[in-house]
Amino acid sequence: MSANRILTGITTTGTPHLGNYVGAIRPAIEASRNSNSESFYFLADLHALIKCHEPELIRQSAREIAATWLALGLDTDKATFYRQSDIPEITELSWVLTCMAAKGLMNRAHAYKAAVAKNVEEGEDPDFGITMGLYSYPVLMAADILMFNANTVPVGKDQIQHVEMARDIAARFNHHFAEVFVLPEAQVDDNVAVLQGLDGRKMSKSYNNTIPLFLPEKQLKKHINKIKTNLLEPGDPKDPDDSTVFQVWQAFASEEKSVYMREQFAQGIAWGEAKKQLFELVNDEIGEARERYNALLADPDTIEDVLQSGAKKAREISAPMLEKVRSAIGIGRL
Ligand code: TRP
Repeated sequence: MSANRILTGITTTGTPHLGNYVGAIRPAIEASRNSNSESFYFLADLHALIKCHEPELIRQSAREIAATWLALGLDTDKATFYRQSDIPEITELSWVLTCMAAKGLMNRAHAYKAAVAKNVEEGEDPDFGITMGLYSYPVLMAADILMFNANTVPVGKDQIQHVEMARDIAARFNHHFAEVFVLPEAQVDDNVAVLQGLDGRKMSKSYNNTIPLFLPEKQLKKHINKIKTNLLEPGDPKDPDDSTVFQVWQAFASEEKSVYMREQFAQGIAWGEAKKQLFELVNDEIGEARERYNALLADPDTIEDVLQSGAKKAREISAPMLEKVRSAIGIGRL
């Protein structure tokens, strides 16, 4: 096995936005170019089912996310890029791991606990609206990770606990049956920007404050114009460190251009002008990818072909791995 195997999943709900791009997609594509590591990136459509019961929305999101990664230049000869539901070994492994996962461990999962706390606060039954899917979410995620013996799992802070649970479950399995799994580690990159959204809070679909990544130019401009600013007039010096406009600028600008914009703020650049320049900066970085994105969305068969060959590559690993698991636990041919 190579020195480093990186794996991460993208839940197929919603449309990729600038925050996803800066915080996850751009660094992942960069990492996949590093020849010392092998990358596995996948559409977590079975995870999407936990939050979304609208088939058309799931399909649309899967198309958009796949087209986004491809348009941005993910090299699918180097990285293995697939759809979770195309790998039946994952769901089987998920059951095996379910039988190795302590219920008490799952009780402590943040997402589940938050859902219970919300019910209690609202005077509902603690389990109101909570499916077994939400409850067992970390086990499916453990199967995603352990299936491919990934050592490094780049995630946002909210997912660290889930990777630790995957580690716990793997250790328990290894201890009880045989040393089958590599123990994974979460990787949270502090240098990667967590982008602010239109209202200045973290850019997130749940806050409804996002700027979708591949909006048509005109709409991108409109969205950037909606970024919240203060009432300082043109000519008034402005504080870049207290400004979403500057924060987004920094996520796209070279060192030099960041210094330049800092200077402009000190000299009192008008908000309208700063936003105009921000639009140009962002648009320059993503403009060509946007054209590829639109072409891909108009031709879903091409996306499907890429995912099919990704699944084929992935199953070359997952099928023998599942055989190892089955043999360790005593399931299979007599
Ligand atoms: N749960 C992750 C999220 O919501 C997505 C995900 C599913 C994932 N399976 C994974 C991430 C395996 C890393 C590894 O962001």
